[in-house]
Amino acid sequence: MSESLAGKRIIVSAGPTYEDLDPVRFIGNRSSGKMGFAIATAAAQRDANVVLIAGPVPLPTPAAVTRIDVRSAAQMREAVLAALPADLYIGAAAVADYTPRQVSGSKIKKSGETLTLELVRTPDILAEVASHPMRPRLVVGFAAETENVATHARDKLDRKQLDMIAANQVGIAGSGFESDDNALTVYWSDGERALGPASKKQIASELLDLITERLRR
Ligand code: PMT
Repeated sequence: MSESLAGKRIIVSAGPTYEDLDPVRFIGNRSSGKMGFAIATAAAQRDANVVLIAGPVPLPTPAAVTRIDVRSAAQMREAVLAALPADLYIGAAAVADYTPRQVSGSKIKKSGETLTLELVRTPDILAEVASHPMRPRLVVGFAAETENVATHARDKLDRKQLDMIAANQVGIAGSGFESDDNALTVYWSDGERALGPASKKQIASELLDLITERLRR
């Protein structure tokens, strides 16, 4: 029997962000939103008050979840910060790290053989939430890595001042982006736990068990 999260407000980010280049093109990524939506679903089933900040994905809204749809990293940041205060923030979204310096108001026309785009860094939403005056009691990030998963994940845990980070290897079949299944290793300052491989539904539930254990301390 899962422990109740009644009375807890939880913000979950999910899906990709799309960074527009012009009215017809954007820079995006492969996130389907399935992992974040599974977490939001599992948290609502435990009676948490869940706000789901969703990038552009066609998934149905989980029952009893407040969903806010956004498109870009800037919009996601605004929606996440507006949803504070909360007890818990889980950043499962694949937020674009860079966005075009300028968005063209009209369709960019073909001209030369090459086209150079100038991109600028997006704000790091997770790090901003973790250092915010209304910092949630627990801030949990995700790390999508193709190699040296543990090293990169622990670096993000420290650098972004997180309580936990859930790392998944991406770029392999049957796990990470788009798939219905995943495998995570969750790291915190003095421990780690492997979850899965299993369905994202099962992993979401096990991740919430770990988080609930921490919230109780
Ligand atoms: O959506 P699915 O298809 O189900 O796939 C799930 C997933 C692979 C997207 C998910 O499990 C996952 O790993 N999400 C995080 C992907 C990611 O962007 O990782 P990252 O290592 O680039 O970012 C690290 C953390 O910083 C993430 O919590 C991210 O939300 C956050 N971040 C990153 C950049 C930014 N500008 N703002 C952020 O908040």
